[in-house]
Amino acid sequence: MGNKCNYDFFMDPIEKKFLNKLRKKLLSKAEGKILEIGSGTGVNFELYEKHDVVAIEPDNKLRMESLNKVNDKKIKVISGDAENLVFEDNEFDAVVVMLILCTIPDNKKALLEIRRVCKSGGKILVLEHIKHKNKVLAVIQDILTPVWKKIAMGCHLNRKTVDIIRDLGFEIVEKEYHVGDNFVLLEILNNK
Ligand SMILES: C[S@@+](CC[C@H](N)C(=O)[O-])C[C@H]1O[C@@H](n2cnc3c(N)ncnc32)[C@H](O)[C@@H]1O
Repeated sequence: MGNKCNYDFFMDPIEKKFLNKLRKKLLSKAEGKILEIGSGTGVNFELYEKHDVVAIEPDNKLRMESLNKVNDKKIKVISGDAENLVFEDNEFDAVVVMLILCTIPDNKKALLEIRRVCKSGGKILVLEHIKHKNKVLAVIQDILTPVWKKIAMGCHLNRKTVDIIRDLGFEIVEKEYHVGDNFVLLEILNNK
């Protein structure tokens, strides 16, 4: 995934089949000043309209690739680490989190940082793949994860992301499962 062309090439069929539709649905709820965490190659950038966006992406190649997708939009892309956000408390109206809680080493720390920089009453918009509710499929995910992590830049197939978010006390106001319950869309109200 470190290779910029490979990432978009690999993801293209999945994007066309369902992912792009899910991204659009979630981003239709985004308003105000937005922080996007781990923006990768900037797949979401074409979906922002008049939004004022700051996007952080630690991988240099992915970040450089994403700059080609900024065009004339109000999107500032910088290097950054979700576990140690460089922003002030309450700086953003919404935080966009797509396909990164599976990857970030300490995703609880990242979520607490997101809570801090998002305004009280702001929105945290999450699209993630998750550990399956079906026990057999969940075991297969457990077996595959050590190998998958090595080829997919640390991505875990088996994180219980919804439970982790709930256990941290976040208020999930909307939750939708998609693609055979492998993916979830969450709208979280940042009550703090
Ligand atoms: C699967 S990609 C998803 C990229 C993008 N969010 C998307 O939806 O296409 C995971 C991204 O998380 C980024 N990432 C990994 N660790 C991170 C961290 N600690 N802070 C911020 N982003 C991180 C990776 O560099 C990568 O761009």
